[in-house]
Amino acid sequence: MNDFDRWQTRFASPDYVFGTEPNEFLVRCKPLLPKSGKALALADGEGRNGVWLAQQGLDVLSVDFSPLAQAKARSLAAARGVAITCAELDLSTYDWPAQSFDVIADIFTQFTPPHQRAAKWDGARRALKPGGLLIMQGYSVKQIEYGTGGPRDPAHLYTRALVEAAFAGWNDVHIYEDDAVIREGSGHSGMSALIGLTARA
Ligand SMILES: C[S@@+](CC[C@H](N)C(=O)[O-])C[C@H]1O[C@@H](n2cnc3c(N)ncnc32)[C@H](O)[C@@H]1O
Repeated sequence: MNDFDRWQTRFASPDYVFGTEPNEFLVRCKPLLPKSGKALALADGEGRNGVWLAQQGLDVLSVDFSPLAQAKARSLAAARGVAITCAELDLSTYDWPAQSFDVIADIFTQFTPPHQRAAKWDGARRALKPGGLLIMQGYSVKQIEYGTGGPRDPAHLYTRALVEAAFAGWNDVHIYEDDAVIREGSGHSGMSALIGLTARA
């Protein structure tokens, strides 16, 4: 089964695989968010993070390649009484718009193979307005031991050194490593090895 079909199959169940509550790291970054402006939620899946960003007053573009996930994102936005714009696209071929967003949320987008990671983060940097904020969280390689979510291939996981090198040219870089219990639907559940980052273009 290819990646697209695998994600579609995963999102075919009626429940929210990653829950309806926003990612905790994203919520912890709330003090950094502008009161208004444009936000891009990358590979936003069923919309929990994009919807939360819209609830913070941001004008949100929620992108993902799974139409089934995006249908759920639209339902979640309606249930929460906010508007988001959904775009169905494959991030590996995304034509990143220049200097368009005040905030980009990159939460658990570790489907990206190592050879496409630089293009993704360079694209995000170009798509941010000068001074715009990237909020990223992913699993670190220790997550293989926990096995509570995320890719099984360690090449898709992060290390502090990898993140430091990838974001060396950004401004105001902060990296947070945490082992913590997270409860994000059935998809991410239990003790987890996490790396978070905030950085500005
Ligand atoms: C682990 S889920 C995370 C979803 C969301 N960011 C969250 O935290 O709830 C990964 C998401 O990446 C999407 N995805 C996988 N490959 C993609 C690609 N090439 N382009 C766009 N989205 C992709 C999947 O459909 C899925 O929604």
